[in-house]
Amino acid sequence: MSLRIICLGNTTLDKVWPVPELPAGSGKFRASDYFELGGGMAANAAVAAARLGADAAYWGRAGDDAAGISMQNEMAGYGVDVTQFRLFAGARSSVSSIVVARDGERNIVNFRGANLPDDPAWLPLEQVAKAHAVLADIRWVEGAAAVFAAARQAGIPTVLDGEIATDAAYATVLPHTDHALFSEPGLRAFAGRDSLDNDTRRRAALKKARDLGCKVAAVTRGAKGLLWLDDHGLHRQPAFDVDVVDTTGAGDVFHGAYACALGEGRSVADAMRFASAVAALKCTRHGGRAGIPNRSEVQTFLTNRSQ
Ligand SMILES: Nc1ncnc2c1ncn2[C@@H]1O[C@H](COP(=O)(O)OP(=O)(O)OP(=O)(O)O)[C@@H](O)[C@H]1O
Ligand SMILES: [Mg+2]
Repeated sequence: MSLRIICLGNTTLDKVWPVPELPAGSGKFRASDYFELGGGMAANAAVAAARLGADAAYWGRAGDDAAGISMQNEMAGYGVDVTQFRLFAGARSSVSSIVVARDGERNIVNFRGANLPDDPAWLPLEQVAKAHAVLADIRWVEGAAAVFAAARQAGIPTVLDGEIATDAAYATVLPHTDHALFSEPGLRAFAGRDSLDNDTRRRAALKKARDLGCKVAAVTRGAKGLLWLDDHGLHRQPAFDVDVVDTTGAGDVFHGAYACALGEGRSVADAMRFASAVAALKCTRHGGRAGIPNRSEVQTFLTNRSQ
């Protein structure tokens, strides 16, 4: 039986301009190359799930412009089901211009898109009951709340990518969320604190998410690994020690892999370890999507690391 994972939320097109060094001031500059790459939290998570062998669907919105078509085609090329990736007439896609220097320094300018309809009434929520796990990011709040509510009713686990958002966005989505996995900036924003510099503070912030109804609240901390709070207390999963070349999309890939592991019925501890391995392997390769490992690469990595 195939593993069906639905990922709903953000998709964006990165237009990347490599240059020898970052331009100083205004002027005209020459790039040594140019390429376009799809990104966005839920969109990358869907690609990760597909790379891991899942029947992954991306549900989301873009404009009926060149960027929207390009993102749809790229995702389909990775084997993601884009039937519910809708391009809306009169809307405009989210795009970023990224000027990246040889030393890795970058300037990013993002346009979040325009006129993307918030009303999720078009989503085929009856399909949620056939999924094994549902993931959403916090950029399309109405969509996330709708798909999570349907999943909860059907007993399907829900995973939130908790990036920076408003209090109102969290208040809407967290009561429907089973597994709230925050980035550090996302947890700080949710907790309303400038810093969460020790485990007592991190635990208090995670407890705030659990008080809203989440079973598991976690914070991912890059190379420092992650912490999660559940009924049994605070737990930790260290990051795998790897030769890092590019951390782009590590968090997105982590979330996609975690949803896959949950969908397979694994324990939370097992899912955290599996997702950490997938994200760490991605960090050893260039590209947010091109660097995502497949299932057998992850299995070999985990077998070697458990000896
Ligand atoms: N340098 C690294 N080495 C090993 N594992 C890493 C590294 N960076 C990230 N990871 C793994 O990926 C997980 C998620 O990364 P991180 O906490 O940086 O996500 P994020 O803040 O959401 O970032 P983004 O969404 O921008 O990729 C970490 O908990 C860890 O397991
Ligand atoms: Mg992230």
